[in-house]
Amino acid sequence: MSEEVRKTHWETVYTTRGENEVSWFQDNPALSLELIDLVRPTHDAAIVDIGGGESRLVDNLLARGFERVTVLDISQAALDVAKARLGSRASKVQWIAVDVTEWQPPQTFEIWHDRAAFHFLVDAADRAAYIARLKEAVPPGGHVIIGTFAIDGPEKCSGLPVNRYDAARLAEELGTGFALIHARRHDHVTPWKSEQRFQFCVFRRTA
Ligand SMILES: C[S@@+](CC[C@H](N)C(=O)[O-])C[C@H]1O[C@@H](n2cnc3c(N)ncnc32)[C@H](O)[C@@H]1O
Repeated sequence: MSEEVRKTHWETVYTTRGENEVSWFQDNPALSLELIDLVRPTHDAAIVDIGGGESRLVDNLLARGFERVTVLDISQAALDVAKARLGSRASKVQWIAVDVTEWQPPQTFEIWHDRAAFHFLVDAADRAAYIARLKEAVPPGGHVIIGTFAIDGPEKCSGLPVNRYDAARLAEELGTGFALIHARRHDHVTPWKSEQRFQFCVFRRTA
């Protein structure tokens, strides 16, 4: 899928659907917060939420005192909604509207968090570009938290095909230099009460 088609898809989603009219909505991103806590970041740790969309993770990170939060998404409309919700607190966040596969990270990050963005990269070249960006952004010692649909999860998300993962398959995708430190299966309940099986993994970059 070209970057243009991908961007048009997501801008359409976010300009036509309300926050809780999308399957991935969560009032409280509890598991993401738990996994971030697991790696014990200090308040000055730089954290990037890849494909953060309208997620409330950023609100929660600011409330917990994190001072260097970045939200990256291909959709400007999604970021605008999150900014409007945060009001004056939005100025404490770095907002980046870009396709992650094309991103030139301007700094390094202690934590790379991605809930349900990586699984859309069904082309090997896109996944390779994503992992190259990740390696530029997260130095050894940093952590990577990725949540995708599980092997027995849905085959599509937002009408788009996805790749499904277990911990071994995700570790294989990242390649050498990443140690899997935690794996968790998780059932997400959509706003219309169906269940979606997710796989979350936490890696430490070792080299
Ligand atoms: C299923 S939604 C999940 C949103 C958010 N992470 C959450 O948990 O609520 C996937 C998000 O990834 C974004 N996205 C998809 N492909 C992307 C890409 N190549 N680069 C950046 N963002 C992307 C979409 O705009 C969307 O906000």
